[in-house]
Amino acid sequence: MKLTYPEHLRSDGPYNPFPGLKALERRLGREIPHRLGSNEGLDMPHAVLAQHFGEAFVSHIRSYGDAEAYELRQRISQQLDLAFENTLVDAGADSLLALALRGLVAVGEAVVCSAGTYPTFAYFAQGQGCRIIEVPYLKGEAYLAPNLEALAEASHQSQARLVYLANPDNPSGHQHSDKDILALRKALPSDCWLLLDEAYHDFREDPASSTPLEGVLRVRTFSKAHGLAGLRVGYAIGSTELLSQLMKVRIHYAISSVSLAATSLLLDHPEEVTAHIETVKQHRHELTQLLESKGLKVLPSYTNFVAVDMSDGATALNLQSQLLDQGVLVTRPAHPEMNHLLRITALKDALSALSESNVLTRS
Ligand SMILES: Cc1ncc(COP(=O)(O)O)c(C=O)c1O
Repeated sequence: MKLTYPEHLRSDGPYNPFPGLKALERRLGREIPHRLGSNEGLDMPHAVLAQHFGEAFVSHIRSYGDAEAYELRQRISQQLDLAFENTLVDAGADSLLALALRGLVAVGEAVVCSAGTYPTFAYFAQGQGCRIIEVPYLKGEAYLAPNLEALAEASHQSQARLVYLANPDNPSGHQHSDKDILALRKALPSDCWLLLDEAYHDFREDPASSTPLEGVLRVRTFSKAHGLAGLRVGYAIGSTELLSQLMKVRIHYAISSVSLAATSLLLDHPEEVTAHIETVKQHRHELTQLLESKGLKVLPSYTNFVAVDMSDGATALNLQSQLLDQGVLVTRPAHPEMNHLLRITALKDALSALSESNVLTRS
């Protein structure tokens, strides 16, 4: 492969000016008890916050977090059987999408994605001055799927620097197999990156491969299966070279110390997460049955939501507003290619709210 980085990032640096105290302690192999170098408010008593959130919370919040997220990356790499250097932690999958664009694509260069997929990617790409090429989904009677061949073809035609694919996809819920992903990688130009957004990988039926692939950045989140959306933590898997390149342009203290500590603690109790994933899958199944029993067309989903195909945007909008009038918020994607869908999170609350609703019909 001939993968490259934007011109201004090809030489050494930029170097993070504040690698931080934790990194220094690791390098020296000992604790530094007198922390006088970071201008933190370490002597703030925090009576109010301690009373509200507890002493453990307060013990984390006075200092900057670990810019290398060492402990969390250790847990992730151990649990996924990866080398430490093949992991990178940032403030949620969204931050990782922005980081990938910042580290891999220059202003004016082309990026490719499916028309109507998770819109944050195009939002960030636009903000960075990229040319965005969108390709239509494959549309079948009972499915909507990102069109991998069309993505590859568009990437050749536009000399794209990066292709974005959410797998499983939002909003279609579709999942491509690991074999499909390998075939896509092969079909892309050798100098084009594949940004693989695996925010929903925990909800697949088969476990997703976590292998770092050349030319691929896998992006994952703790917002869904781990229920930590408010803490803003996600991780990426990629080659050592790719990740060290991205570390050069990462916002070094983007994740709070409390978010890092809480996520590490949760990863020490994987049984809670496994149980939650099973519950979500059960709710997804029951929600699908409920909606189908009302005559609605539900797309197969490998995520923590289901997408209802309402045939056209006006019908979807109508049902969405009727539900909102009843205090039920569901999402209708804004993109014209996807605005005939209603996306509903597979929560227990969805089952009770929607089984009580009298507005659920297809037309
Ligand atoms: C496909 C996809 N990627 C990324 C995200 C954002 O994840 P995070 O909360 O980690 O930023 C979402 C959230 O809905 C998503 O659907």
